Amino acid sequence: MKRVSFEEFGGPDVLRLVDAEEPHAGPGRVRIAVRAAGVNPVDWRVREGQVLGAHPVVLPAGVVLPAGVGLDAAGVVDEVGEGVTGVEVGDRVFGEGVDTYAEFAVLGAWARMPEGLTFEEAAGYPSVVETALRIIREVGVLPGQTLLVSGASGGVGSAVLQIARERGIRVVGTAGAANQDYLRGLGALATTYGEGWVERVRRLGDVDAALDLAGSGVIRELVELTGSPERVVTIADLGAPEFGVRFSGVAGSVPAALAEAVDLISRGKLHIPVEKSYSLAEAAAAHSDSQAGHTRGRRVIVV
Ligand SMILES: NC(=O)c1ccc[n+]([C@@H]2O[C@H](COP(=O)([O-])OP(=O)(O)OC[C@H]3O[C@@H](n4cnc5c(N)ncnc54)[C@H](OP(=O)(O)O)[C@@H]3O)[C@@H](O)[C@H]2O)c1
Repeated sequence: MKRVSFEEFGGPDVLRLVDAEEPHAGPGRVRIAVRAAGVNPVDWRVREGQVLGAHPVVLPAGVVLPAGVGLDAAGVVDEVGEGVTGVEVGDRVFGEGVDTYAEFAVLGAWARMPEGLTFEEAAGYPSVVETALRIIREVGVLPGQTLLVSGASGGVGSAVLQIARERGIRVVGTAGAANQDYLRGLGALATTYGEGWVERVRRLGDVDAALDLAGSGVIRELVELTGSPERVVTIADLGAPEFGVRFSGVAGSVPAALAEAVDLISRGKLHIPVEKSYSLAEAAAAHSDSQAGHTRGRRVIVV
């Protein structure tokens, strides 16, 4: 089969489309014929050598070179591992696995795709929904309160905004000028980041809790706006603990997140748009575009 692989850590040009042995579903796993793989920033962070440690679902032994790429995928089950129940060959599923930029991949967590969702769309949900649910829980925001989201138009931001609104939380999001209407369409109050952003947020009202999704060096301001470091969580700023702010980096239950995603998508309460699709051979371009830092929703590799 074909898979995207890299032999050394580095820029997007280390990615190659190569012939590889097909993986097989071990106990508790399924194999899918991949139809689409989501492109997440963690994919290029791993490729650059920034993330070498464990991922609870997919990288129990760390990164071994040459390595494959990709966590999220959607496709058709074609092997069911020992001990797995409730899923059959031929089922359309989406979930998290290992080396998903490939013709076949093994998933450790999956759910049947909701009716009406394309493979291309489905591949964009697993990681962003797990992350969004985790950080909304960790920041402790309640219905009726206001949540500020810095960097709200990307994959995780799009999920946070919609899940928070569904729970009756008022949301203020920051994004670039081109994404203001997008944020409003997701039910948020919107303003731009950059010079003067703190004052613009203040004019929109008090903030009870805040999430930093962009890692753009705003932790001090988020603490000022919420009044306490305990009401701020970041997923992108490793310097946040200096301010007493929690860095959230350990994934929660992916099966539980997928079940919630299916429910929200089926009820029309959650939609992550696909910014652009790429072929397996275009994986380097997908990474360059993601690294440029202005993805609306999710980029996807279509197999
Ligand atoms: N720790 C964890 O568990 C975890 C989990 C998932 C993701 N992450 C990390 O979280 C970050 C976000 O992930 P993602 O998938 O949502 O990324 P993404 O889809 O690439 O979105 C990035 C967003 O950041 C916005 N942005 C760029 N510069 C900004 C600035 N100066 N201020 C505010 N917003 C800005 C962009 O908005 P505009 O286009 O409107 O400019 C873009 O929509 C990444 O760094 C990723 O590695 C961490």
